[in-house]
Formats: sequence, C-alpha cells, structure tokens
Amino acid sequence: MPEATPRHRWYDGLLYAWFYDPVEAEKRRLIAEWIPPGSTVLDLCAGTGALAMELAQKCSRVVGMDISPRMLAWARARNEKAGHSNVTFLHGDSTRAGRFVEGPFDFAVASLLMHEIREEERALVLSEACKVARRVILADFTAPPPSNLRGIMNHWMELFFGGPANFRVYSHYLEHGGLPGLLERLGLPVLDLARDRHGACTFVMTAAPQTV
Ligand SMILES: C[S@@+](CC[C@H](N)C(=O)[O-])C[C@H]1O[C@@H](n2cnc3c(N)ncnc32)[C@H](O)[C@@H]1O
Repeated sequence: MPEATPRHRWYDGLLYAWFYDPVEAEKRRLIAEWIPPGSTVLDLCAGTGALAMELAQKCSRVVGMDISPRMLAWARARNEKAGHSNVTFLHGDSTRAGRFVEGPFDFAVASLLMHEIREEERALVLSEACKVARRVILADFTAPPPSNLRGIMNHWMELFFGGPANFRVYSHYLEHGGLPGLLERLGLPVLDLARDRHGACTFVMTAAPQTV
C-alpha cells in the first residue's frame, strides 16, 4: 500500500464536525439523491465521514479516503458508533487515488475539495476519479457566489478558517468559473448540474468522455 503525506488543517476533526457538518446537511442529501441504491461509492475527501454515514444506508459499499489523519480518526469513530459494516476509511491522496483503491466504483464523489486544492491537483484528482469510477460527482461553491447570506458566509469562512494561502486557491477556483469552468478546461462533459436552494453550492456529474 503506498503512503500519503498527512496534511492537517487546524480545524480538522472536532471543529469541522461540530460547526460545519450541521450546515451542510442539504448538500449531503442532494448528493445522495444522485446515487441509486446498491451503488458502490468512493468518497475522495471523506472529511469527518458525514456523507459516508448517509450513503451507508443505501449503498452496498462506501470507501472514504482522506489525506488528514485527524479527519479520518473522527470518521472512523463515527462509523464504529454507527456500526456500518459496508463502510471503510483509508488514509490516501486523491491526486493518486488509483494507487490506494481498486475500482471500478459506480461513483466517485468529491465534496468541497476542488476549491481548496491547486489547479494541477484538481486535474489529477479528476483524472484519477474517472479511472476508478464510472461516474464522478463534484459538489462545491458556486462561482460567482450568490450575494445572499450563505454566499457571503462561505466567502468569509474561507478566509477565516483557511487563511490567506487557502484564500488564493479558492479565489482562483472562483475566478475560473468554479466546477463548470474546471470541467470545460479538462474537456470533461457535464452530465448533470444542480444547485442547492441558496444557489451557494453547485453539483455536477461527469465521467471519462469515452465512457459517456
Ligand atoms: C473542506 S473539507 C470537505 C470534507 C467533506 N467532503 C465535506 O463535504 O464536508 C476538504 C477535505 O478534503 C481533504 N483533502 C484535501 N486534499 C486532499 C487530497 N489530496 N486527498 C484526499 N483528501 C484531501 C481534507 O483533508 C478535508 O477533509
């Protein structure tokens, strides 16, 4: 098994689970609605495991990958408590996902990952995701953000929680069209697109062009 270099953020684990997970319930529900019962799913940035817990109830197998051991510790504890035998979590780097998991999965999901990694990493994650899964679901901030409370809150939280370096990466993501812009640059099709009720989160489904 290859090694992934651990990467932490100061809010990983408890803070994320207490303050951010509850705000994101609609996002997880909308992702789950796109995934048919019985599917196999790879969550490429599982975080505290909140989405995996939701998918466990309808999917045959869920694998959650994350680069942050602190996020993973939280996710594993959560799963132990819930007792889902169809969920596993592993420490891995999604830019090299194919070295950590064996596909094919029906779906790979990356929720709130693209805005916080550099363009080269976005391309690598998507290339790997298309290799290990038949369909790829991305959920991330809408670009440009809506001028409502949710859009403004997301914007300032990125600066406050992520700091200036993260904010530069996030700004690049926004200035280059968010998820639709990213898929266009990479020549990947938009098979489906949706927004949450605030218009603050965009959801896209894509796949390797030759499989569509
Ligand atoms: C903003 S959090 C999103 C967590 C969760 N998916 C959600 O929607 O709430 C971003 C997550 O991506 C993880 N991450 C960042 N780069 C990664 C990489 N290269 N491979 C795997 N996970 C990564 C972080 O550790 C963090 O858990």
